[in-house]
Amino acid sequence: MMNRFDPLLSHAATVKDRHILDLFAADPSRAESFSAEAGPFLFDYSKTNIDADGMALLLDLAAQTGVAARRDAMFSGEKINETEGRAVLHTAWRSVEDSILVDGANVMPALRDTRARMQEFAAAVREGRYNGQGGTITDVVNIGIGGSDLGPAMASLACAAFADGPKLHFVSNVDGAHIHDTLAGLDPETTLVVVASKTFTTIETMTNAESARRWMAEVVTEPAKQFAAISSATDRTATFGIPAERVFGFEDWVGGRYSVWSPIGLSLMIGIGPELFDQFLSGAAAMDAHFRTAPFAHNLPVLLALVGLWHNQVLGHATRAVLPYEQRLARLPAYLQQLEMESNGKRVAMDGSDLPYHSGPVVWGEPGTNGQHAFYQLIHQGTRVVPCEFIVTANGLEPDLDHQHLLLMANCLAQSEALLRGRSLAEATEIMRAKGLEGAELDRQARHRVFPGNRPSTTLMFDQLTPATLGGLIALYEHRVFVEGVVLGINSFDQWGVELGKELALALAPVLEGTSDGAGKDGSTLQLAARIRALRG
Ligand code: F6P
Repeated sequence: MMNRFDPLLSHAATVKDRHILDLFAADPSRAESFSAEAGPFLFDYSKTNIDADGMALLLDLAAQTGVAARRDAMFSGEKINETEGRAVLHTAWRSVEDSILVDGANVMPALRDTRARMQEFAAAVREGRYNGQGGTITDVVNIGIGGSDLGPAMASLACAAFADGPKLHFVSNVDGAHIHDTLAGLDPETTLVVVASKTFTTIETMTNAESARRWMAEVVTEPAKQFAAISSATDRTATFGIPAERVFGFEDWVGGRYSVWSPIGLSLMIGIGPELFDQFLSGAAAMDAHFRTAPFAHNLPVLLALVGLWHNQVLGHATRAVLPYEQRLARLPAYLQQLEMESNGKRVAMDGSDLPYHSGPVVWGEPGTNGQHAFYQLIHQGTRVVPCEFIVTANGLEPDLDHQHLLLMANCLAQSEALLRGRSLAEATEIMRAKGLEGAELDRQARHRVFPGNRPSTTLMFDQLTPATLGGLIALYEHRVFVEGVVLGINSFDQWGVELGKELALALAPVLEGTSDGAGKDGSTLQLAARIRALRG
C-alpha cells in the first residue's frame, strides 16, 4: 500500500550510503543553503544527508499534508484536537492579538484578566505585600506533575541567572521521598505552596498537596492562607479549601504540556518577576509570528520537523538526542520528552486507522559536555545511528567565566565535526604506527579507533539564554511537534496512552493493601504484589 513517505523513501534509497562530506565538497555554499534564521536563532541542518531534491520532496510533503491550513486553524481557535473536541490555543497566552474566538466568544479579555491577577499576586509575593504567617515568603513549592511541573521546572532552571524572588522548588513524584526531601529545611511559616493541576484530580499532585498541607498545619494555624492553586477546575480548588482570590484558571484548550505560558508559569513569574516573564512570552510570540508567516523553506519549526521526519520516518532512525551545550537547559531534554513523546507517540491516524509508518521518535539527551563523558561513545561508534540536535549559545551569562563558555562551544562544534568527519582506518593506522605498533596488533588496535563518521546532526545557535530566547526556543519546539504531527496525520493534542496505567494503579492499591485478592490479574503481577505485602509485613 502506498504511503505518504514513499517518494522520500525512494529518494533515500538512492542516496542513503553517500557521505555527507561529499555534499559539502560538491556545494561550497551548502552550509548557508541548508541553514535558516528566525530572530536570534540560526538553525544549521547542513550536516545531514538532505540534498536539494530531498528538501523539495519534504517541502512537498508539508504542502500536501495541509500544514499551513492546519496551522492557521490552530491559531484561529478551531477545534483541531478532534478526539477531545477542543481548540488548541496555548498560543493565546502569549498572543498580542485583542480577539481570538472559541465557539464565537473572544477568549482574550478573561485571559488578560487572569494574567493581571497573576502579575499582581507575583509582585505582592516578591515585594512582601503577601506574606506567610512568619513574614516575607522565602520559598515557593510548586506541586504538579507532567506539564504542570516540567514546564515551570525546566524554565526556572533555565532562567536561574535572572531569578531574584523567593527560592523555587518543584515536587512532582508521588514517591514520598520527593516531598519529604523538598520540604526538609523549609520554614512552613514563610513557604507558599502552589498546587498546579489542570484537572485538580491527578493523584500524585493531590496526594502531595495534602501532605504539604499537613506539614504546614503542624506550625501554621491557617495553612490555606499559604496555598495558591492553578487549575481549570475551580470547583475542585474550592473543595480543597483554596480561596478564589488565589486560584488562577485556564481553559481546557491549553494542553498540559503546552501550558507554561498560562498560570502554570506562576512560580516562574514569582521567581523572575512579571516583567521578565513578559519577555519570556514575547520571545515565544515572535516565534509564533515567524511560524505563521515565513515561507516553509525558511521556516524554522517546519525545517526542524522535516529534518526530524527525514531521520525517523524516512531513514528509520528511531531516536534523536537533544544535546544542549548550556547547563541551565539541563531539564530541556526531559521537557521535550513530554512535549514530543506525549504529543506524537500515537498509533492511529486522526480517522482511527492504523498508521502505516512510525509515529514520533524516542527523544532523549543530556547537556554537553557531561553527555560526552557518558553516552557519546555509542553515538560515535555504536552500530545504530542517532541523529543529534545540538543547541548552543554564543555567550554565557558569567563574564568572568567566559573562557569556560568558549571551551563549551568548542566542544559542541567539535562533536558535530567528529560525527560528520569520523576517523578512517588509514588515519587510525597512522596514529597507532606512530605509537610504535606494527603487524596484526597494529591492525587490531587501529580498527578499535575507527570512527565511521557520516553521522547526522543539526545545530541550533543563539546569542544568550535569556527569558526571551527561552520563550522562542520552547515555541520553536512546540511548533516543530505540531508540524510533525500534521504530516503524520495524528492528533498531537490528546494523550490517551497514559490513562490505562492510571486506572490499573488505582485498582492495584487495594491488592497491595491486602483488601482485594486481585482476581483476574496475571501471575507476575500477583507474585510481585504478594512479595510487596510480605516485605511490608
Ligand atoms: O498523565 C498525563 C497528564 O495528563 C499530562 O498530560 C499532564 O501534563 C499531567 O498528566 C498533569 O495533569 P494535571 O495538570 O491535570 O494534573
